[in-house]
Amino acid sequence: MSNETLANLLHEDRSFPPDPAFTAQANGTAALYAAADADYEGFWADQARTYVTWSKPFTQVLDWSNAPFAKWFADGELNAAYNCVDRHVEAGRGDKVALHWIGEPGDTRDVTYADLHREVQLAANALTDLGLGKGDTVAIYLPMIPEAVVAMLACARIGVPHSVVFGGFSAEALNTRIADAQAKVVITADGGWRRGTPSALKPAVDAALDHADTSVQKVLVVRRTGQDVAWNDARDVWWHDAMAAASPTHVAQGMEAEHPLFILYTSGTTGKPKGIFHTTGGYLTQAAYTNAVVHDVHPDRDVYWCTADIGWVTGHSYIVYGPLALGATQVLYEGTPDTPHQGRFWEIVQQNKVTILYTAPTAIRTFMKWGSDIPAKFDLSSIRVLGSVGEPINPEAWMWYRDVIGGGSAPIVDTWWQTETGGIMISPLPGVTSLKPGSAQRPIPGIGAEVVDDMGDPVPNGHGGYLVLTKPWPAMLRGLWGDPARYVETYWSRWPQYYFAGDGAKKDDEGNIWLLGRVDDVMNVSGHRLSTTEIESALVSHPKVAESAVVGANDEMTGQAVVAFVILRAGASHADDDNTGIVEELRNHVAKEIGPIAKPKRILIVPELPKTRSGKIMRRLLRDVAEGRQVGDATTLADTSVMDLIKTGLSSGSDD
Ligand code: WT7
Repeated sequence: MSNETLANLLHEDRSFPPDPAFTAQANGTAALYAAADADYEGFWADQARTYVTWSKPFTQVLDWSNAPFAKWFADGELNAAYNCVDRHVEAGRGDKVALHWIGEPGDTRDVTYADLHREVQLAANALTDLGLGKGDTVAIYLPMIPEAVVAMLACARIGVPHSVVFGGFSAEALNTRIADAQAKVVITADGGWRRGTPSALKPAVDAALDHADTSVQKVLVVRRTGQDVAWNDARDVWWHDAMAAASPTHVAQGMEAEHPLFILYTSGTTGKPKGIFHTTGGYLTQAAYTNAVVHDVHPDRDVYWCTADIGWVTGHSYIVYGPLALGATQVLYEGTPDTPHQGRFWEIVQQNKVTILYTAPTAIRTFMKWGSDIPAKFDLSSIRVLGSVGEPINPEAWMWYRDVIGGGSAPIVDTWWQTETGGIMISPLPGVTSLKPGSAQRPIPGIGAEVVDDMGDPVPNGHGGYLVLTKPWPAMLRGLWGDPARYVETYWSRWPQYYFAGDGAKKDDEGNIWLLGRVDDVMNVSGHRLSTTEIESALVSHPKVAESAVVGANDEMTGQAVVAFVILRAGASHADDDNTGIVEELRNHVAKEIGPIAKPKRILIVPELPKTRSGKIMRRLLRDVAEGRQVGDATTLADTSVMDLIKTGLSSGSDD
């Protein structure tokens, strides 16, 4: 974010008080803040009893005696799948639609809670028949189809943590994640629909498993696109065959509250993705509570739509576990917003009378660019709450979202959280908070957050620093899969009493929190987290690359864009005059190593990289170059002529 934008942000004086009619029906109340302040553990115990059904009630709330390793509700037992499915059927709501599923080509399927119940039981038995049980893990690599939800819930039902890998990740990235979690089974599909064409998934699984020492014994394959797939009889099983052979009833067993529910890999500051792991009771409590009070989901009358992919934590908490625990009706959409036309989202809202929409700023900015006349063609009057997640939302996009999509009145909840936090942490409560465009505002009831300086002291209003979380929370990560030391080091070493989130933040004059982006080597591109180091490693794994440095440059559409500076190996640089060939080759190489989302927007071939005397790359200077600014203070460079070399090289046309 540039300094001007920052200055504007902090002088935001628009404020939108809640509409009394909204307040009258809202789940969130001012009293929740007071209750949480008065008795923090008692507050969370209340939420755990309100939103979750326990097969064995808990008597303990928080155990922080082994900090920073938390236990919540430790002597309680529950089954997450029972909470998301069975209990709604038992309460007579089996005919209620859980998922209005919409395939990209236009095929649709309504899945009721009774349907989910039937399928999750079959799938739980099918997975058990494959030999899965407690102690195993399953990787899920699926498009946005109902089977993805069924697969996750079936794993939860039998106590086998799932590791969902986003379908846009490459075979290489899938392999790393499978190996780290030692997954015994992979659940995938022949393919999924993407911008009008079937795109294959199974070949990436085959390639990922092409290692003698793979942990994977079986691959379950959902037939989605009908495309041809290579088949290994000893290993591959069709999902529909396994379901047809499975017994129809499965009685859910209670799991200990701290039983692992899932692992989800996310980019950190090193090349190796981190396996964030979450457990059952605290996670489910916070997912359901936040979905109720922040999105204001009322299962009896709302149609909720979260546009995230289930491959990200947003899909875990706010498509699968939160809304289904509440018994809500939601839209699940397989495709992209511009297929077959740029009004697709609004057509879906109109047809399904969506009342709550949760999406990312990058999507909102794209819709703005496409023009307000597109949503204007559709009836969006059903919408009553809007949500934003994944990156800071600029006030212009916020106002557009409210006016054009929200009819000038729908409250917007700008929700700050992370894969690690498991659930929403900082957000306005609709019906309670007076909204400030562009600010996530305050920690929600039950959450402690602060902005601190280098010493770990809270900054006064009007000042900036680092965002920290000051108290353990129920949905917090319980660690990094197989690497407890890295968990402590990454999150709890800078200030041992606080969780360090990795984000910069400011407090305005009223104490509202404004998120300012990452302060570490993590980039945020279209709300997706990417590691500079991971992309640098991918680049240097190419035989023509000697060295590389990656920065996230400001980008109007995607928030940040990946810009790579690359030094070629001797002899590789003169393959063509303007480097276009090698630049394309390297971009494709990154897509192959990590996935298309990590493809650098620009690759600049340079003769040198700016380094300090201790050899640290000065990314700040590279960011200046990437954002077309005057290069800042370069006095700590080991060789001050390097920046001149880079600039001269660039002006002679090595940009793509
Ligand atoms: C990082 C976490 C939370 C699910 C999606 C991303 C950034 C997230 C906001 C927001 C400003 C935000 C932060 C955070 N972020 N939400 N409302 N305002 N920044 O999860 O991939 O784990 O990324 O996303 O930088 O640290 P994630």
